[in-house]
Amino acid sequence: MEKWIGKVAIVTGASAGIGEGIVKSLAKSGIHVVGLARRSEKVDEYVQQLGKTPGTIYSHKCDVSDLQSVKEAFKWIEEKFGFIHILINNAGVAYKMQILDEADVTEKIDSILKTNVSGLVYCTREAVRLMKKADDYGMIVNVGSIVGHNIPFRPNSLNMYAPSKYAVTAVSEVLRQELINQNNQKIRVTNLSPGHVRTDMATPSNVDPDEYYATKSVLMPEDVALTINFLLETPVHVNISQLTIKPVGEQF
Ligand SMILES: NC(=O)c1ccc[n+]([C@@H]2O[C@H](COP(=O)([O-])OP(=O)(O)OC[C@H]3O[C@@H](n4cnc5c(N)ncnc54)[C@H](OP(=O)(O)O)[C@@H]3O)[C@@H](O)[C@H]2O)c1
Repeated sequence: MEKWIGKVAIVTGASAGIGEGIVKSLAKSGIHVVGLARRSEKVDEYVQQLGKTPGTIYSHKCDVSDLQSVKEAFKWIEEKFGFIHILINNAGVAYKMQILDEADVTEKIDSILKTNVSGLVYCTREAVRLMKKADDYGMIVNVGSIVGHNIPFRPNSLNMYAPSKYAVTAVSEVLRQELINQNNQKIRVTNLSPGHVRTDMATPSNVDPDEYYATKSVLMPEDVALTINFLLETPVHVNISQLTIKPVGEQF
């Protein structure tokens, strides 16, 4: 991780779950991290508990599904740092519903697409602009999902979530190609597809989480953070364009 010490990373969806794990891990490696989330106060809370880290953690309020909010956040980042080196597009939402529900689910459908797809693209456009200003090596990791590659039989929960993750898979490759087309050899793009990770998103609200997970194969947010470290540690001429991480025993 030495080559990234002192560099600047942006992590979206930093207030909980996988994003929180990534923020903490990057900061422990000496990278300065800006954690973006709507509940940015949650980032401040865990930073206070964590104490001093080799890299400094900053929080900033940002709703990635709102273009103005993204532009404002990256303006703040540009004013503070001038440029950046790493973007982890992690913010995402999921809802328990079906596309064909009789109740009106259009708001949820829009929320999934605006957050998981458009928001990722808005943040990437701003981040690449600031990576180019750095004229240094850069890395973008899009947190997709294994359901962005195959659809298991789960008609109650996949709704527009799985299609949004297929879009993340496709956007990642399109970005890689556009960067090549711009003759940019410095910014790498990875679509990182985790299986089941123990977070609020993946845990039903009506269960005791310890009991629920006692018999399940599941990753922890720290495992995903470790995978990001692995990506960052690869030589700069290596672009792992797709990486899947599953807990041992995951059946899908
Ligand atoms: N958990 C799994 O099993 C699993 C598996 C594969 C992939 N993933 C993906 O991993 C990513 C993180 O999920 P998680 O499991 O860590 O879920 P989580 O615990 O629910 O965390 C989701 C994060 O996304 C943020 N977020 C949601 N909407 C946002 C918006 N409009 N603007 C900014 N931030 C927003 C939330 O922050 P605020 O609410 O504070 O804004 C929160 O920090 C998602 O992209 C998810 O699809 C999860």
